[in-house]
Amino acid sequence: MAFKVISASEAASMIKDGMNVGFSGFTAAGSPKAIACEIAKIAEKEHAEGKPFKIGVLTGASTGDSLDGNLARAKAVRFRTPYQSNGDTRKALNNHEMEYVDYHLSQLAQDLRYGFFGKIDIAVVEACEVTENGEIYLTSSVGVAPTYCQMADKLIIELNSTHPKALKGFHDIYTPLDPPLRREIPIYAPTDRIGTPYVKVDPAKIAAVVYVDKPDEVGGFAEVDGITAKIGENVANFLAKEYSEGRIPKEFLPLQSGVGNIANAVLAALDKHPGIPPFQMYTEVIQDSVIDLMKSGKCTFASTCAFTLSQDAQDYVYHNLDFFRDKLVLRPGEITNHPEIVRRLGLITMNTALEADIYGNVNSTHVVGTKMMNGIGGSADFTRNAYISIFTTPSTAKNGKISAIVPMVSHVDHSEHSVKVLVTEYGVADLRGKSPRERAEAIIENCVHPDYRPKMREYLSICDKNHTAHNMNAALAFHTEFLKSGDMSKTDFEQYK
Ligand code: COA
Repeated sequence: MAFKVISASEAASMIKDGMNVGFSGFTAAGSPKAIACEIAKIAEKEHAEGKPFKIGVLTGASTGDSLDGNLARAKAVRFRTPYQSNGDTRKALNNHEMEYVDYHLSQLAQDLRYGFFGKIDIAVVEACEVTENGEIYLTSSVGVAPTYCQMADKLIIELNSTHPKALKGFHDIYTPLDPPLRREIPIYAPTDRIGTPYVKVDPAKIAAVVYVDKPDEVGGFAEVDGITAKIGENVANFLAKEYSEGRIPKEFLPLQSGVGNIANAVLAALDKHPGIPPFQMYTEVIQDSVIDLMKSGKCTFASTCAFTLSQDAQDYVYHNLDFFRDKLVLRPGEITNHPEIVRRLGLITMNTALEADIYGNVNSTHVVGTKMMNGIGGSADFTRNAYISIFTTPSTAKNGKISAIVPMVSHVDHSEHSVKVLVTEYGVADLRGKSPRERAEAIIENCVHPDYRPKMREYLSICDKNHTAHNMNAALAFHTEFLKSGDMSKTDFEQYK
């Protein structure tokens, strides 16, 4: 080994209060697992002695519990970006124990290079191999690692032997030039390769290597249930109809799929549907369902930023790397989510809403308007630029006490201008080419839970008659009722008449 090999705790001691640390990883895949635990211990020790210790934590997206969980519990985070999905981090940022900047995933790398986030002091990067001349072969994700490596003063490599060296060749690392020199990103099909299989750095910047043997901390998925299966079926039927009627070209179009249980159920439904031909994916994350689609031959290629796989699925892929070698490519989030490519390739995008309103505005992030759930992730990178942007959600949450379709969303992540199709277990609202009044009709009839439909019609009856009709006193009545009684179905519109 040409580099200094040290322990995780020695590596952690290089990280000082106030530093900005860029971590590799995109979801729990490829995020460092050893050094963050040791940083948390240092923070706890310093705090116990009455000393300050907080760092800026910049990643590719969410990470594993070793990183986000440990650092949040140790109150070691001053600032966090661009995305998280960890329970303890969620608590801490909603309690104002840390500053959280919820950021479009495609944009972070370039905005770092533009200097909008200040300096990166240290990058901590998980790799399956590093060569003497500074070629770093990443593991199960790419995220923002190339830019952290480029910008950081120093690098610490977590060389994780759980990832086989045979992963070399799956990555395609490309960093666009910054304006005014930027040219088109030359990806014209999901299969195109435009970069190198490694991140190249000046070897003098590699301060140390830490040996690790720890698997990715990806949680399992819930089994597809009646509601998610129905949502999946509705999406599959909708796309099969679009295809048979010629609004999707005969080659089909690349799919992007979000994260979580609904996304898994939708992909399972596409797998089974005879009216959906084999397709490619251009997406930011692949979950277990994509591996099943590849085994069945339904998905012929996937370009992704991360292999967000359960242990079983990852073992399967790692034992069959030769089968997957010409079917998978791992790219930086800046490229997987790039608006230019999303628009050029004509992606069909499928993401999940927390709530949507009767005009098609979507809230993906804030529970009852103020409490951060996870973040916007890549959902807007894809939605705004899609060929067809689809949002799915169960029609209700919390045993029917919340309607996922509301008169007005309590926070907007995706506006009515970008959202083309809304799907619940009750049906599909195709919003393309529809005016606000027509959209409201389509959403109430097709997507709202039958128990909430009368209330939604009553709301419309007390709205003004303007272009996008609302009653500004009652627009958030569902939410205020939920805050008062814990049950949106008790909303009484009488008082606003
Ligand atoms: N109000 C309050 N809570 C709601 C709600 C609403 N309107 N709708 C759902 N919830 C709750 C659910 O009850 C559930 O709570 P629980 O964890 O206590 O059981 C939780 O939100 C998650 O909902 P679920 O239906 O299980 O969906 P999910 O796991 O697919 O997550 C999002 C949904 C929106 C939170 C998730 O997809 C997300 O963070 N999206 C934004 C980022 C993104 O799209 N990334 C992919 C881009 S490529």
